[in-house]
Amino acid sequence: NDADRNALKREAAEAAVELVEDGMIVGLGTGSTAAFAVEALARRHRQGLRFVGIPTSERTAAQAKAAGIPLSSFAEHRQIDLTIDGADEVERGTLNLIKGLGGALLREKIVANASRRLAIVVDGVKLVDRLGTHAPVPVEVVAFGLEVTQAALKVFAAEVRPRLTPAGDLFVTDGGNRILDCHFAGPMADPARLEDRIRRVVGVVESGLFIGRADPVFVADGQGVHRLDS
Ligand code: A5P
Repeated sequence: NDADRNALKREAAEAAVELVEDGMIVGLGTGSTAAFAVEALARRHRQGLRFVGIPTSERTAAQAKAAGIPLSSFAEHRQIDLTIDGADEVERGTLNLIKGLGGALLREKIVANASRRLAIVVDGVKLVDRLGTHAPVPVEVVAFGLEVTQAALKVFAAEVRPRLTPAGDLFVTDGGNRILDCHFAGPMADPARLEDRIRRVVGVVESGLFIGRADPVFVADGQGVHRLDS
């Protein structure tokens, strides 16, 4: 149930926060698991740990600000020491990821790429043998020509659905773009190749496939927190 899952998310998040050292620039992820990391970081900040955060979404920026975490941006820092973020699926073995069910994948990828390390925090349900087991691949696309971009993705995806808000409107990302959730027939054999293919489609801004970026991954499964290194 949700309470149990939240307890696991919190456990994984707290383990990752242990990696933060005095003076670091820390990337702040988005989603319910990353929110527990932000909460734990705020506590460490109150206890005297000095660091500044660079958030991956407006939502996380608001949470961090309210919790008293000092925020910065790429205007001041080109390199982040460590980012702590969630994921929707983690492939056991490769640590490749699907991210973006929370809609922040573009900023998450920019922050991940600017980070020396990307620590991922998940509960055990998200650890899979092959990506695509439960989650679609979110693809951020520009609003113009959404229908043709959708059709171009549909050439190799089994199903492509525009992301909607609970009210039924098209979901708009922090960057003002839209999201197409791409479902593939069965788990993915070659996510790196798929990422290339998705990114070659005109109109695509970024895909939610994160290849070879996560290190380490903290998984809380009820038996404890396991650390997976790449
Ligand atoms: C946000 O865009 C996502 O990449 C999240 O990091 C991911 O969806 C995990 O979110 P939860 O921790 O809420 O499952």
